[in-house]
Amino acid sequence: MTTRHVVALGGSLLRPEEAEQRIEWFGRLRQLAVHMEGNGRHLGLVVGGGLPAREGITLAQALVSETHRLDEIGIAATRLNATVIQQILLDIGCDVAPIIATTTSEAAALMDVHHIVVMGGTTPGHTTDAVAVALARDTGASHCVIATNVSHVFDKDPRHHEDAVSFTSMTIDELAEITGIDEPLAPGASAVIDPVAVGWAKACDLRLAVLDGRDLNLLEKALDGQPFDGTLIVP
Ligand code: UTP
Repeated sequence: MTTRHVVALGGSLLRPEEAEQRIEWFGRLRQLAVHMEGNGRHLGLVVGGGLPAREGITLAQALVSETHRLDEIGIAATRLNATVIQQILLDIGCDVAPIIATTTSEAAALMDVHHIVVMGGTTPGHTTDAVAVALARDTGASHCVIATNVSHVFDKDPRHHEDAVSFTSMTIDELAEITGIDEPLAPGASAVIDPVAVGWAKACDLRLAVLDGRDLNLLEKALDGQPFDGTLIVP
C-alpha cells in the first residue's frame, strides 16, 4: 500500500450542530492522525470552507461582481478551517507541517518531510475537492478520499428526492453524467463533488472514494484499504 494518502475534508464536518459531537469528532480525527503517523504513512488533509466560506461570500455577494473575488473569500475561509485542524493536531505533538501550503506542489514537498500536511484552497475556479485530487496526483497517492456529509453518491439529491438511488461503485464517466464535468460551480455552491475535481480525476486516472466524514471510522477503513460504506469511483 502506498504511504501517501489524501483526503478532502468537507468544511461542513467542522461544524456539526452539537458542540459535544464536534469535540468528539476532533478527538477521533486526532486518533486517526496518530494511527497514520504511527504506521509511517503520510496524510494530506485538504479542508473545505464550510460555514465561514458561505458567510463571507454571502456578505460580499451584493457588492462584488467578479466571481474570482468571491472565490478568494472562500479560499480564505478554507485556510482558516485548515489552520483549526492544523493547530488541533500540532497540540498533541503530531508531525504536522507548520505552514498552510498554498499550492499542491508545495504541499507535496511538505509531505516528503512531515507525516501530516493540512491545506485549504489554492486559486479561484474550483473547490477543495479539486485541490485534493491535484494533491493526490502530485504525491502519487493511489486514490483520493472525499469525506463529505452524505453517505454515498446518489443518482439525484437525496435531500429532495425520496427515491434517490445510491451507488457503491461506479466509473468516473458515470459520475460525470450526474455531477457534470470541468464546469466550475458558482462561488460557495454545494455539490457532492465539484465537476472540476471530476475532470481532473479523469485526466489522471485517479480513483475516488466518497464517504460520510461525520463517521471517521469509515474514513479510517478507507485509508486502511478495507471495504468501507460509501462510493468507490474507478477510472
Ligand atoms: P469549498 O472547497 O469549501 O467548497 O470552497 P465545497 O466543497 O462546496 O464546500 P465544503 O467542502 O463542504 O465546505 C468554498 C469556496 O471557496 C472557493 C470557491 O468559491 C468555493 O465555492 N474556492 C475554494 C476556490 O475558489 N478555490 C479553491 O481552491 C478552494
